[in-house]
Amino acid sequence: MEIIVKDTVDEASAIVAEILLRQVEEKPDCALGLPTGATPLGVYARLIEDFRNGCGCYNRAHAFNLDEYLGIPGTDTASYAFYMRENLFRHIDFMQRNIHIPDGSAADASAEATRYETQIAARGGIDLMFLGLGRNAHIGFNEPGSPHDTRTRRVALTASTMEANARYFAPGSRQPTHAITMGIGTILESRRIVVLATGIEKASAVAASLAGPITDAVPGSALARHAHTTIVLDRDAAHELDRILALEIDA
Ligand code: GLP
Repeated sequence: MEIIVKDTVDEASAIVAEILLRQVEEKPDCALGLPTGATPLGVYARLIEDFRNGCGCYNRAHAFNLDEYLGIPGTDTASYAFYMRENLFRHIDFMQRNIHIPDGSAADASAEATRYETQIAARGGIDLMFLGLGRNAHIGFNEPGSPHDTRTRRVALTASTMEANARYFAPGSRQPTHAITMGIGTILESRRIVVLATGIEKASAVAASLAGPITDAVPGSALARHAHTTIVLDRDAAHELDRILALEIDA
């Protein structure tokens, strides 16, 4: 596992944007796994800027979103489909038919999850999976306790995740309690994984994921099971990791 620590969020985002850009240059018809949340916004802004400057061509690439809320349509401003359209897809040249996001309004969530897995497999799997990290170390919406061999499925969100994400919902609107997420097993099958975590509120999730035991209680710890993972952090997110590694070096 490669760990890169940069001084600022901007510098960390630039590294991840560069990795994504290199992936589409090396394999124009690659399959990218993409996350939502506040963390990837700086990366997506850079990809858009690069694209406007003539760098990056996505018209043969496929995008597979990591997760989607259940019970809201893709037109809802809080949906991940809306987020992806607004923050990335409508600014660059992805083909609509190559954009894959679980359908949050599907009547049968289990059938939708199975369909999504089949779509990923039909593309030959994911070449590069870009991930954020939840404050409780979740990846996608795989909450603590998720076994590391899980597949795409319907999941219940924890109270802490709902609280962390409440800011994305208009006051008075109903916040979904469930989602469809790629499973940890699905994620680990990606050829390469790049994780971006920034900010002091991620420091303990980063330390538990990277310096603790591999356990279902810490979804991020599953990343150690993967042969080609790059973790990109800013100084704040690396704060507790630095302390733990320093203790290990002193010992
Ligand atoms: C959500 C998403 C995750 C994301 C996490 C962190 O719960 N399902 O994929 O990594 O939030 O979000 P943020 O980047 O806003 O901290």
